[in-house]
Amino acid sequence: MKIVVLAAGTSTERAVSIVSGTGICRALRANGHQAILVDIFSGWKEADPETAFDDAYDIDEAVRYINSFNDHLEEEIASRREFFGPNVLELCRRADIVFLALHGANGEDGKVQAAFDLLGIRYTGTDYLSSAISMDKSRTKQVFHEEGISTPRGITVFRGEKRRSSAEFGLDLPLIVKPCCGGSSVGVSICHTDEELAKGLDIAFRLEESALIEEFIEGDELTCAVIDREAYPIVLICPKTGYYDYTNKYQAGCTDEFCPAPIPEEKTKEIQALAIKANDALGILGYARFDFLMRRSDKKIYCLECNTLPGMTPTSLVPLEASVVGMDYVSLCEKLIEVSMKKYRKEA
Ligand SMILES: Nc1ncnc2c1ncn2[C@@H]1O[C@H](COP(=O)(O)OP(=O)(O)O)[C@@H](O)[C@H]1O
Ligand SMILES: [Mg+2]
Repeated sequence: MKIVVLAAGTSTERAVSIVSGTGICRALRANGHQAILVDIFSGWKEADPETAFDDAYDIDEAVRYINSFNDHLEEEIASRREFFGPNVLELCRRADIVFLALHGANGEDGKVQAAFDLLGIRYTGTDYLSSAISMDKSRTKQVFHEEGISTPRGITVFRGEKRRSSAEFGLDLPLIVKPCCGGSSVGVSICHTDEELAKGLDIAFRLEESALIEEFIEGDELTCAVIDREAYPIVLICPKTGYYDYTNKYQAGCTDEFCPAPIPEEKTKEIQALAIKANDALGILGYARFDFLMRRSDKKIYCLECNTLPGMTPTSLVPLEASVVGMDYVSLCEKLIEVSMKKYRKEA
């Protein structure tokens, strides 16, 4: 198949996305596909869409080209109106499918998916609406409440609103503050006092208009992928220090991961069932990864969020879960294409 692996972009997760995209593109090429790696924002100026998929393609050169844009991204964003880079749509139109290796804003939030639907471009992962709802943790929470899916108690607040104390919010300290549409723990604060709450809101509002204040759940961090409505083995995530922040997520050696999670069988079943319930409640098509906390005091399970384009670097959590059921990275990439094509068959 002719496949464009779309990566990079302008979100806070650009760097991770480049690693995800490189891994996916290499795997698909190793499996015989005509796969090319393209930065959705910077595009590929020299590409001739007619011949871009030919054998002469050099992925190392593509990675160098994409990384050459990293340092002057801000100026480029300020000077441009269109998000799609040179030749991006032309290349995507010629592909049999576009593998979305994007993370975060303008990639994971449904906008690209909606545009591609209108352009008749096929892509991996879920549709625009479930992407948009899942991107916003406040909207996700509303759906979880509706469907009786256990999630930490929380309140959505907006920039410019009158500031309140934890008591005025009706929440007990400690609390967690996070931007509603962030990812990779960027802008997340743990607040033990009302001063820290005010500071946490400042941090979140620097990034976004709205923030979520949640009760802090002391316990174990778990995650579970759902592919084609099937829950995969759970990962127990143990940062060596602190919580699962950006450094602990991406710096090698900072976090231990255990898969399958060494937790009681009935807890595994409970989390997997909750993951599928959350998957269906949000209307996920194809695949997604759900983050959970298990409270230490009473082992109660809480669903934190749904990641509709979860990390796909060769050492990411979804590839780890797949490997436990005997699916290697190359087979996983193929599987994600296969399950993503189903949404087009339904329309036929
Ligand atoms: N209510 C909470 N209680 C305790 N820790 C939390 C809570 N919400 C988030 N965290 C911590 O912050 C991390 C990031 O939060 P999450 O909601 O998964 O957002 P994202 O991964 O999109 O940044 C979690 O993995 C967890 O370590
Ligand atoms: Mg998360």
